[in-house]
Amino acid sequence: MSEQTRWYQNAVFYEMYIRAFCDSSGDGNGDFRGAISKLDHVKSLGVDCIWILPMYPSPLKDDGYDVADYYDIHPDYGSLDDFKAFLDAAHQRGLRVVIDLVMNHTSDQHPWFQAARKDRNSPYRDYYVWSDTGTEYADTRIIFLDVEESNWTYDPEAGQYFWHRFYSSQPDLNYDNPAVHEEMLKAVRFWMDMGIDGFRADAVPYLYEREGTNCENLPETHGFLKKVRRLMDEQYPDAVVIAEANQWPEDLLPYFGDGDEFHVCFHFPIMPRLYQALKAGDKTPIIEILARTPEIPAGAQWMTFLRNHDELTLEMVAPEVREWMWQEYAPGPRQKQNLGIRRRLTPLLDNDKRKYRLMNGMFLSLPGTPIVYYGDEIGMGDNVWLPDRHGCRTPMHWTSAKNGGFSTADKTYFPAHTDAVYGYQHVNVAAQEGDADSYLSLTRRLLSARRAQPALQNGELAWVDTGSKALLAYTRTAGQEQVLVLINLSDQPQALNVSLSEEMIDLLSDGDQSFAAASLEPYAIHWLKSAG
Ligand code: NOJ
Repeated sequence: MSEQTRWYQNAVFYEMYIRAFCDSSGDGNGDFRGAISKLDHVKSLGVDCIWILPMYPSPLKDDGYDVADYYDIHPDYGSLDDFKAFLDAAHQRGLRVVIDLVMNHTSDQHPWFQAARKDRNSPYRDYYVWSDTGTEYADTRIIFLDVEESNWTYDPEAGQYFWHRFYSSQPDLNYDNPAVHEEMLKAVRFWMDMGIDGFRADAVPYLYEREGTNCENLPETHGFLKKVRRLMDEQYPDAVVIAEANQWPEDLLPYFGDGDEFHVCFHFPIMPRLYQALKAGDKTPIIEILARTPEIPAGAQWMTFLRNHDELTLEMVAPEVREWMWQEYAPGPRQKQNLGIRRRLTPLLDNDKRKYRLMNGMFLSLPGTPIVYYGDEIGMGDNVWLPDRHGCRTPMHWTSAKNGGFSTADKTYFPAHTDAVYGYQHVNVAAQEGDADSYLSLTRRLLSARRAQPALQNGELAWVDTGSKALLAYTRTAGQEQVLVLINLSDQPQALNVSLSEEMIDLLSDGDQSFAAASLEPYAIHWLKSAG
């Protein structure tokens, strides 16, 4: 690996939702003290960095992505001291921590918005984007299509319309106002000085609005983001800043800048294509999207995921593919949501361990820094009957005790699953600990096999011709190290037409590692390395 490799380029992240993780106070909400008590579990997975969802004071209309105070902790989750204790406890275990910084908008309960709506002459009025008619920027798409009809909402108190790209309870900040830049840079410094290792910047394509454009990815937006990076380079050079921009790869490239903007960008479009390829038994969508993925500057990295706290978004696929994905993956009631699917990983994969092994083994061996979503390491299920995206944000299952050992409260923020297949009585960390065939053991084995292979972390990717659309093969190479990945995406055995010149060992094999198969079993995945 090159000397310039930065820690985040070969790391694995774990996405943690504090409210769902562990409740130490018995009030039914997870909190930082509870999360501290579970850090050994996170460490045991073999991940390097925790990304926590927004933990600020908030009315929770968008689960914390509606920030009411950038400088404190939501009282349900604890205090700033608890946050610091969490940070220290993670660092003591060699785990880094990144937070989520919501730059584009605040809650309508934020004191800035409260002052702004009350008084046209308040200095905070210009922190937001107002209109007398609500007709401007008509070429801008609506993101929360299932709930919002317009990006403008009339506020009777203000006597004007305000601009919002998400819920109408989340007014957009006005980045044409330099005071907003200063506020955001101040918030960055506050959390960085506390010792975090970086942050995910939420919803960055939407910072500016300009008439006649779709108000996404504007040059002015990049101008501000480069300012953030300058601050980071000058004062926090070891930290990572991650862009959440749900865009096509070519539109993402400017977010890396010339190595002077984001260190890492989420690669949204690859995610649905992994599911598409598996269901269709056809590798083509994966190869096409990676062919469409440009080279990125030295020191930069993509970030990949199979699931996260949002619906499995299908924004980045063609309309006919979206329809097909819904038909295949969301046939049940309420499984469709907005332009996506509100289901967790294991139910999407029919609770089939072969598919779980394949999807994880594929995403952990393709380029990018992978994120594991809390609960997926034990194959947790979803609850589509909960509102919005909450069905995939339910309490973590630790044991078979009440509420899955998450909380002693009689009522938790949302109920833990109790159904016959995915209920905490059967699916929980304790039950899976000693079971070599459990999802948990499988996840640990995959992560530890990846960890041992520098080539899988940041190596060059090359496709290997297999003559079969169902058989995906590629190498990852770093210096002298090479791993050959073979994947059978179909439910039928596939003859192996790849010539293996040397004696190979299978890094994913549980028993005898020598590999000499002439065909691949349905849904098989192998990570092969020369035995020499
Ligand atoms: C992206 C986050 O992932 C999502 O949960 C949130 O609703 C929007 N940004 C708005 O902040």
